[in-house]
Amino acid sequence: MSEDINIVSIIGVGYLGKQIAEKTAMKEYTIHLYDTNVEDLEKFSIELKKRKKTSGEITSHESIKDAVKDADLIIEAVPEILELKREIFKIIDEAAQPNAILATNSSSFPVSKLEDVVERKNKLLNIHFYDLFAMPMADIMRGTKTSDETFEKGKKWVESIEITPLIVKKECYGFVFNRVWRAIKKECLKIWAGGYADLEEVDKAWRIFTGMGIGPFQFMDQIGLDVIYHIEMSYYKNSGLEEDKPPQALKDLVDNGNLGQKSGKGFYTY
Ligand SMILES: NC(=O)c1ccc[n+]([C@@H]2O[C@H](COP(=O)([O-])OP(=O)(O)OC[C@H]3O[C@@H](n4cnc5c(N)ncnc54)[C@H](O)[C@@H]3O)[C@@H](O)[C@H]2O)c1
Repeated sequence: MSEDINIVSIIGVGYLGKQIAEKTAMKEYTIHLYDTNVEDLEKFSIELKKRKKTSGEITSHESIKDAVKDADLIIEAVPEILELKREIFKIIDEAAQPNAILATNSSSFPVSKLEDVVERKNKLLNIHFYDLFAMPMADIMRGTKTSDETFEKGKKWVESIEITPLIVKKECYGFVFNRVWRAIKKECLKIWAGGYADLEEVDKAWRIFTGMGIGPFQFMDQIGLDVIYHIEMSYYKNSGLEEDKPPQALKDLVDNGNLGQKSGKGFYTY
């Protein structure tokens, strides 16, 4: 357990929010959950309570305000849409106790993009998780005014839930490893959308080259193609470079409801 953090709130309990809750629940932390999908949240929180072996409570809430009011650390994991994250950070900042740390799990936006909507500019962090069970690591990055104390507390909490922190020294899009993954993803999408090779060939090459069990397209299907599309759009909006624009073929898949494993079809059929 981290000495300074006892209560953790998770706002947005989808694919990643659930994993963050699962990992946090393995320790003594009290967890407050909020998601607009009330039915799914209720189901998940009942299951998690059954699995939790430590003493901290798990509660689901009907409003963000209620979910964050006594928290020491609040993790936001709503969809990768900047305006939505800004709206939510503003509500959290108004409702949370003054010492609470606010962290975003955003895959691409630096937390400095949320600074102007909050008062507590020294208590903001990017804590960007990967798949918490398969890849137990998290990028930790400061905003422009984040204090050393906030950074240290965030890092200790990450370590306390048995995740390896990856320290970002200077603010950048993509943090540490996501930036590397983004370069791979972008080129893979170009090869596929440009008709240079089938995606199965790219995945096969990746598996042989790295010895990993899955290739980039299989991994994107796992993550969700809507999530991938939003992340790619965020990189594109940040750079303004045409070469960063995700291919139309990816948007077509998303628009047609082919979102990857979660919808039964994406690059592959499940
Ligand atoms: N999927 C990944 O592998 C991955 C990895 C690292 C980071 N992330 C980041 O985590 C965040 C969430 O991604 P995800 O994959 O879990 O997405 P997701 O779509 O699975 O989950 C998002 C959740 O937010 C909820 N939500 C939507 N609007 C809300 C609101 N106004 N208030 C509260 N909840 C709301 C949705 O109901 C959903 O449960 C994104 O910023 C994404 O970039 C995702």
